Amino acid sequence: MILVTGADGYMGWPLMLKLGRMYPDERVVGVDHFGRRRWVQEIGSVSAIPVSSMDERLRAAKEHGISNLSFVEADLTDRDAVHRILQTFRPRVILHLAAQPSAPYSHINGKLADYTQENNNRMCRNLLWGLKELGLENTHFIETTTTGTYGAPNFTIPEGFLKVETPTGSDILPFPGMATSWYHMSKCNDVNNLSLASRLWGLTVTDLRTSIVFGTGTEETALDPRLATRFDFDFYFGVVTNRFCAQVLAGHPITLYGRGEQKKPMISLRDAVESLARAVELPLHRSYRVYNQMTILASPKELAETIRTASEQSGIPAIVQSVPNPRKENEVHQMKMENSGFLSDLLPGKPVTLEEGIREMLRDLKPFSHIFREYIDRFMARE
Ligand SMILES: NC(=O)c1ccc[n+]([C@@H]2O[C@H](COP(=O)([O-])OP(=O)(O)OC[C@H]3O[C@@H](n4cnc5c(N)ncnc54)[C@H](O)[C@@H]3O)[C@@H](O)[C@H]2O)c1
Repeated sequence: MILVTGADGYMGWPLMLKLGRMYPDERVVGVDHFGRRRWVQEIGSVSAIPVSSMDERLRAAKEHGISNLSFVEADLTDRDAVHRILQTFRPRVILHLAAQPSAPYSHINGKLADYTQENNNRMCRNLLWGLKELGLENTHFIETTTTGTYGAPNFTIPEGFLKVETPTGSDILPFPGMATSWYHMSKCNDVNNLSLASRLWGLTVTDLRTSIVFGTGTEETALDPRLATRFDFDFYFGVVTNRFCAQVLAGHPITLYGRGEQKKPMISLRDAVESLARAVELPLHRSYRVYNQMTILASPKELAETIRTASEQSGIPAIVQSVPNPRKENEVHQMKMENSGFLSDLLPGKPVTLEEGIREMLRDLKPFSHIFREYIDRFMARE
């Protein structure tokens, strides 16, 4: 049995469908507390692609032959609820995706910074301790942390570990948490706890450092509008690629923060979901293993130009406008990142390119242009 936390989310729902199809003889149970739906509403925005209720999603999945999915509504910061779920299902694999995943949201005020870290870190601790306390040490625990834990060092970022040479000796150490937001730091805290739990109890832990995920869906979400996943485009929950595409379709300039020349790691939603579903097949390695879940390195400026060109080719005029950068970041940092372990173990096929991904997004999102126009003020931060 496979447990997916964050099953109602942007990545979690397409992952449920993919797992359901790839492992038809195994039950796939999703858990969520629908927080993402509430947070987006709270900041005055909407998912541009309408999302069905969970009941409707499960009904539609069944109609399309995916009948091994179940869902439990629960808040995973509740330790008793986590124990009940683990005890009932005794999963062989947990894919832990649940999180408050927005850096800008975690920066609105101290209360939300606190909420983000408490929510994310408590869930991770509850799940790890639940495995220990219920004797589930053979469960493979997989979490999507983030490439944002690495910060922006001036050397090629390895997959999780650094060889450190000192005058008195050398060692292989976990990469230090160099995050630049309260949300990203919550994932650095998880990284430390994941590695600790694996060292203490011999748990098999796979940490996928997920990069910026872009796209509108997967093969499964395209089967039926009721199977669609959410698409956020606002200042707080819209990641850069998704927000830029929404901006051109709204007739709004593509807002480039500052110079925007720093390289950022990215991956399409299709490749992110595919590689997570494959991670289920990794053998029990009884260690703490890290993969950099990324396939593309591009700067926001390159991204904006690629979107502008694709948009003009499909007859939609677009302009790029530089605006003051609301973030504290090096606007020219040329990030380099190792991902060979990830590609060889979890994504053997040819990854989706940025150009392909963007063309697909503009095509899929065109029918929702009126939503982007209606919520055009949401591209900006709340006053
Ligand atoms: N999307 C990206 O670009 C990206 C990049 C790097 C890392 N990640 C990580 O990947 C994971 C999935 O991201 P996403 O974009 O699908 O986010 P998402 O917000 O769409 O999905 C996360 C889900 O977790 C649920 N959740 C949060 N707290 C919960 C709680 N206490 N109890 C139960 N459910 C809870 C939310 O309701 C939401 O549906 C997250 O861990 C995120 O940090 C995402």
